[in-house]
Amino acid sequence: MAELTKLEAKLGEVTGLAMAAQDAGKKVKRLAEGEADDLVQQLEQMVREAAETEERCVELASGFEGKKTAILDEARATKSKASEMLSTYLDSDSDALDGFEFLTMAEAGELGHWAVLQELTQRAGNAELQGLVEWALPIQQRHFAAVSDGSLKLAAEEDPSEPA
Ligand SMILES: [Fe+2]
Repeated sequence: MAELTKLEAKLGEVTGLAMAAQDAGKKVKRLAEGEADDLVQQLEQMVREAAETEERCVELASGFEGKKTAILDEARATKSKASEMLSTYLDSDSDALDGFEFLTMAEAGELGHWAVLQELTQRAGNAELQGLVEWALPIQQRHFAAVSDGSLKLAAEEDPSEPA
């Protein structure tokens, strides 16, 4: 197995998070359906953007000579950790608000990873990776803002004195 640099490993991690974001988005979409249809549309867009992010990351990983397999292994390992978090956090009692709260954690984590990748990339001199980070970071910022706003919107519809 090829050993990865910190930069390559971080690329693997954001790739895995983009994979996991698609599953999480689809799962929360099912919770929001019928409860918050405008949020459902937002989730659909987020899932599409996560798929595009995964695609771009995988394409870029192919450019790392002899490292693609190891980067994708790292991605799958990250994805499976994130999937475990998803299934631990959301169970059969979960509602749309629970779903958006989970996504708030997940998107904050994703955004944080991209910011770290940006920091590493600035010193690595890889123009292609720099381009990917510049494309992905604002999208991740928007995702985080959208799910935290979504949580607050759903919370505003709750009756605080009702039993949980
Ligand atoms: Fe995201």
